[in-house]
Amino acid sequence: MKTLTVLTCMLSLSAGAVSAVSAAEPDSATRKAKLMERKLAASQDILASLAREDFTRMSAAADELLGLAKQQWIDDESPQYRSQLKDFWIILEGVKESAAEKNLDGATLGYVQMTISCVRCHKFLRDKVE
Ligand code: HEC
Repeated sequence: MKTLTVLTCMLSLSAGAVSAVSAAEPDSATRKAKLMERKLAASQDILASLAREDFTRMSAAADELLGLAKQQWIDDESPQYRSQLKDFWIILEGVKESAAEKNLDGATLGYVQMTISCVRCHKFLRDKVE
C-alpha cells in the first residue's frame, strides 16, 4: 500500500512536471542538458561495468545510450552528423553484442571506439560553429 501511495505520488508529480513544461513552452535547453547528463552517466556506467565484468549492467547502459542517441537524430540534419550518429549506434550495438557473449575484450574495444566516437562528433559540432 505504501508503495502504491509513493507510486501515485510520483506519477502525479511527473504529470505535473509534464504539464508545467508544456505550459511554459518547452525549456529545450534544460531538457537537452538533462539528456547530456544521462548520456555521460551511461557512458561512465559502461566503464564501471567493464571493470566489474558486470555484463548485465553493460548491456543496460548501452541500451540507455542507444535510446538517448536516438533522441539526438534531429539535433543536426547534415549527412556528416548523421553518419557519425549512425556509427555511434553501430558501436553501441557492438558493445551489447559483446556483453551478450560475455566477451570482455570485445566490449573494452567497443568502449574505446565509443569514446572516440563521442570526441569526434563533438569536435565536428564545435568546428562547425567556429
Ligand atoms: C553523433 C554525435 C554525438 C555523439 C556520438 C555524442 N554526442 Fe554528446 N552531444 C551531441 C550534441 C548534438 C550535443 C548538444 C550540443 C548542444 O547543442 O549543446 C552533445 C552534447 C553533449 C554534452 C554536453 C556538452 C556540454 O557542453 O556540456 C555531453 C556531456 C555529451 N554530449 C556527452 C557525450 C558522451 C559521453 C558521448 C559518448 C558516449 C557523446 N556525447 C556522444 C552529439 C553527440
